Amino acid sequence: MKVLFAASEAYPLVKTGGLADVAGALPVALAESGTRVRLILPAYPEVLGRATDIATVAELPGLLAGHDVRLLSARTPDNDLPLLLVDSPTLFDRAGGPYTDDHGVDWPDNHLRFGVFSLAAAWVAAGAAGEAWRADILHANDWQTGLAPTYLRFIGAPNTRSVFTIHNMRYQGLYPSTVMTELELPRFTFTMEGIEFHGQVSMLKAGLAFADRIVTVSPTYADEILLPQFGYGMEGLLNARRRDLTGILNGIDETAWNPRTDRHLPAHYDAGDLSGKAICKAALQQELGLTQDPDAPLLTMVTRLTEQKGIDLIVSAIPDIIDMGAQIAVLGAGEPHWEHALRTLQAPPGRTAARIGYDEALAHRLIAGADMFLMPSRFEPCGLTQMYAMRYGTLPVANRTGGLADTVTQVQISPGGNGASGTGFVFDMTKPGALVGALQDGNALYKNQPAWRDVQLEAMQRDFSWAGAADDYGWIYRTLAPHALTGSAKLSGEAA
Ligand code: ADP
Ligand code: GLC
Repeated sequence: MKVLFAASEAYPLVKTGGLADVAGALPVALAESGTRVRLILPAYPEVLGRATDIATVAELPGLLAGHDVRLLSARTPDNDLPLLLVDSPTLFDRAGGPYTDDHGVDWPDNHLRFGVFSLAAAWVAAGAAGEAWRADILHANDWQTGLAPTYLRFIGAPNTRSVFTIHNMRYQGLYPSTVMTELELPRFTFTMEGIEFHGQVSMLKAGLAFADRIVTVSPTYADEILLPQFGYGMEGLLNARRRDLTGILNGIDETAWNPRTDRHLPAHYDAGDLSGKAICKAALQQELGLTQDPDAPLLTMVTRLTEQKGIDLIVSAIPDIIDMGAQIAVLGAGEPHWEHALRTLQAPPGRTAARIGYDEALAHRLIAGADMFLMPSRFEPCGLTQMYAMRYGTLPVANRTGGLADTVTQVQISPGGNGASGTGFVFDMTKPGALVGALQDGNALYKNQPAWRDVQLEAMQRDFSWAGAADDYGWIYRTLAPHALTGSAKLSGEAA
């Protein structure tokens, strides 16, 4: 079974959020379970700087508006995963982020950048770069590769099927209908059942309409997106394709996120000996200018600063957090309005800290050094940081939605109060005061250290590995492309 996994970012080569974590880890887990996976990425400068063994494989001339593509093979620096890079310097060789310039403004030609990337992925999967690179499955992810399944349908690839994973319905890749010509899309695809969305082209909708199978990153989110509140107007199409839609919970990279070995931490620990966690907390309080107090509950948040993540709710709850005697530290980057609000927080000295920017190492220290981790997300397709937090013995405070509902188990105090089970504090955001109530529950449990320890240990022992997800994706690939299996593998259900 040969899979071409297409994504616009992948850790550790280039990352803006959880998609990168998934694209960096799921292909590795798939490879471990016997699937032959190649990860295809745009050749951004940071990717070319970090990948190894780079060599030219093929030329794909004149893709969309005359853009020439050089296809490069390469490897990831840490785990040797085979990579294919779509090199088109006019589109990808720029200073700035994968989607925006240095001021956070979207690149004006993103439709063309990701159109060319998607078309190149489709051609490679179809075998245009040589039979050796042909794939049985083209696995696309989010709007940036939403056109890949569409192109695959129309370039003629009888032996290649497509899977489209939705990581976030909120980002849709919407462009004026005039881009249809530039993107060389057949006019008959511009319909309500196809890629048209309120008169515009939606790259996300293209993926939903034309992929053979649709996956999203948690079972609860797979149900939620069938409703108007979470479907952003695409719930009709999703309901029509319900039988092709599956929720598969993401895993986490247990090597990069392991409190026993994490190279970003001042001390290490595990469920058997938590003394290193106390050192991490003290070091974090010092680093952030918080009062050195081992007994004050320390609440942290690491996030993109967008409405999705509920940062507004946290800013409003700061007086309550301070009243509880707790401390709070936030690391975030994103909407300028929220960056400003965090920079100008009014609070007594030593009780709050905010760091604006993207800082991988500090993210690890904030997750390890905290007692509780805040995730009041309005919606959360999966969410990875709550799983990182649990693995680090840091209890999430999370809204009951999407992957948060599927991964965090509400704490229950045992009768008599001398023990507890669960892994965190789950609240229902639609109920007024629910977030502060959950914070108060967390604070109360923190005062009962033996019960707190029970919950910490349960959280640390949860299995968040990728193996289960890789298995589920493997089944989907096999049902779509049974021709890729050899005789004996067909019988046993194993990929060749
Ligand atoms: P999303 O993809 O919606 O942002 P996830 O929880 O799936 O949410 O993944 C977020 C990833 O990005 C995690 O690895 C998290 O640690 C990281 N991250 C988010 N914001 C920052 C930041 N400001 N600095 C460092 N890492 C961040
Ligand atoms: C998205 C979602 C997040 C998910 C991540 C990886 O960015 O917002 O919930 O964990 O993708 O699938």
